[in-house]
Amino acid sequence: MLLQEFNDKGYLVVENFISPTEIKTLTEQAQKIIEDYTPNNFSIFSTRQQLSTTDDYFLQSGDKIACFFEENAISADGMMLVEKNKAINKIGHALHELDPVFKAFTFQDKIKSLLDMLDIKNGKCLQSMYIFKQPHIGGEVQPHQDATYLHTTPQKVVGLWFALEDSTNENGCLWVMPGGHKQKVKRKFVREDDSVRFEIHDKKDWNEKDFIPLEVKAGTLIILHDKLPHMSYKNRSDKSRQAFTLHIVDGASAYENTNWIKRETPFPEFA
Ligand code: FE2
Repeated sequence: MLLQEFNDKGYLVVENFISPTEIKTLTEQAQKIIEDYTPNNFSIFSTRQQLSTTDDYFLQSGDKIACFFEENAISADGMMLVEKNKAINKIGHALHELDPVFKAFTFQDKIKSLLDMLDIKNGKCLQSMYIFKQPHIGGEVQPHQDATYLHTTPQKVVGLWFALEDSTNENGCLWVMPGGHKQKVKRKFVREDDSVRFEIHDKKDWNEKDFIPLEVKAGTLIILHDKLPHMSYKNRSDKSRQAFTLHIVDGASAYENTNWIKRETPFPEFA
């Protein structure tokens, strides 16, 4: 029933999927990671200038715990404009593997049962991200399909987006295009050695009028099909919009060598 709804719409909203205790555990752990983090340089995450801001620190972060800054947290001459814990855009991309708290959260029975329901068998976790969407400076995320960034054959990756705070129009909630997952992948973010480029398959832009906002309460899980166009506007409020995300591939799908995440060790499995 739920799987049919997911296949029809390309997304599902599940309220109260995680408890206030789980939220507290994850948010406190994220703060601890930031406290312990001493930046050597300010690697920025921006979907507006993705190719020019993709640096070695980003390309090497697939199997690490790395902190990326909000574009507007760093001045033109490289100074941090706000306190460190208000400057980080996201932590990625292997929290689920390297951090004991995020690892225990990820590989719990509740998520295994959810993957069964979504017909993801022997799933492997490709990446995790803790997203802050900081007050006032939390940047927009341009319309995209996750399949642009995660290539598998057959293409079968599911995105799990856990709201750790209330997510509203003001603080930059997710917007999705219902049914939009039935189209092809518009472009692919392709890595060759230490450089990345976009391979364009369809030049036509999406119409922002076709997207709807998903305003959700803390604790809600949003499940995203890998071809569903989604986006978020910048945070215009004085509250952050924190979320934790996981991307999980079906065990029977092959991981393509065009992916930006390169690893020496296998992806951790749910089996
Ligand atoms: Fe996404």
